[in-house]
Amino acid sequence: MTSALVIGGGGGIGAAVAQRLAAEHAVVVGYRDRRDRAEAVAASIGAGAVVCGADVRHEDGVAEAFDAAEKLGPIHTVVHCAGAWDFTRVTDLTEASLDDDYATNLRSALLTLAAAGRRVVDGGRVILVSSAAAYLAPGRQVSYAAMKAGLEAGSRAAAKELGKRGITVNVVRPGATDTQRLRDSTAEKAIEAMSSMPALRRLGTPDDIADVVAFLASDQARWVTGAVVDATGGLW
Ligand SMILES: NC(=O)c1ccc[n+]([C@@H]2O[C@H](COP(=O)([O-])OP(=O)(O)OC[C@H]3O[C@@H](n4cnc5c(N)ncnc54)[C@H](OP(=O)(O)O)[C@@H]3O)[C@@H](O)[C@H]2O)c1
Repeated sequence: MTSALVIGGGGGIGAAVAQRLAAEHAVVVGYRDRRDRAEAVAASIGAGAVVCGADVRHEDGVAEAFDAAEKLGPIHTVVHCAGAWDFTRVTDLTEASLDDDYATNLRSALLTLAAAGRRVVDGGRVILVSSAAAYLAPGRQVSYAAMKAGLEAGSRAAAKELGKRGITVNVVRPGATDTQRLRDSTAEKAIEAMSSMPALRRLGTPDDIADVVAFLASDQARWVTGAVVDATGGLW
């Protein structure tokens, strides 16, 4: 059986992705700190899933996550769902805060592309989760928007290099999606405002995003690569 690695599979969006991909692959549910959440996701899948705690800001953590997937079978699909945001004002950005954001949101994604290029099977799938912030450029998200825009550009460049092996590389770009992280990081009033912004007039759900990821991971998406797929319910 082939394997799928979901980096950030213990998170809100990642959990729904891991559950979808388990229909086709043995799944690694990746996490950094919250093992309990990852274990709950793996338990919801059953025998076809294991957890792996590895910090993908660093090369050795990325290698550890890929090792865990290879133990389950040749790696067919890698999904990078790790990420974090805050609402730092532009005037409060520092060298340290930027380095931290870079490591979490961009370096981890680029290291994942590098490892995927070395270790995913020919014809495999690589999918990275960006954010509508990359093009909406909301205030107080200068750094996050820049990192996600970088993730999108890097993914498209990697798609060009990896295409000769039949590997597709795509990005899914969610808008505000109803996860615990969103609830913990955002005031209720702001969430209400975010719910009314998309053309479809609600927050996204993790399942809304996971269905798009599952499509990109499927054979039906074999002719789609280097794409940034908007999954925002219509936000522009
Ligand atoms: N929710 C939204 O509204 C929204 C909107 C647009 C884009 N996104 C993007 O969607 C992705 C998932 O968001 P979410 O709301 O599902 O967040 P979440 O619930 O906090 O999930 C993030 C996951 O990534 C893991 N992670 C974070 N840093 C890591 C690291 N250095 N190494 C390994 N794993 C790491 C976390 O592990 P631990 O929990 O163990 O730390 C967690 O499993 C992020 O890339 C985010 O930027 C979210």
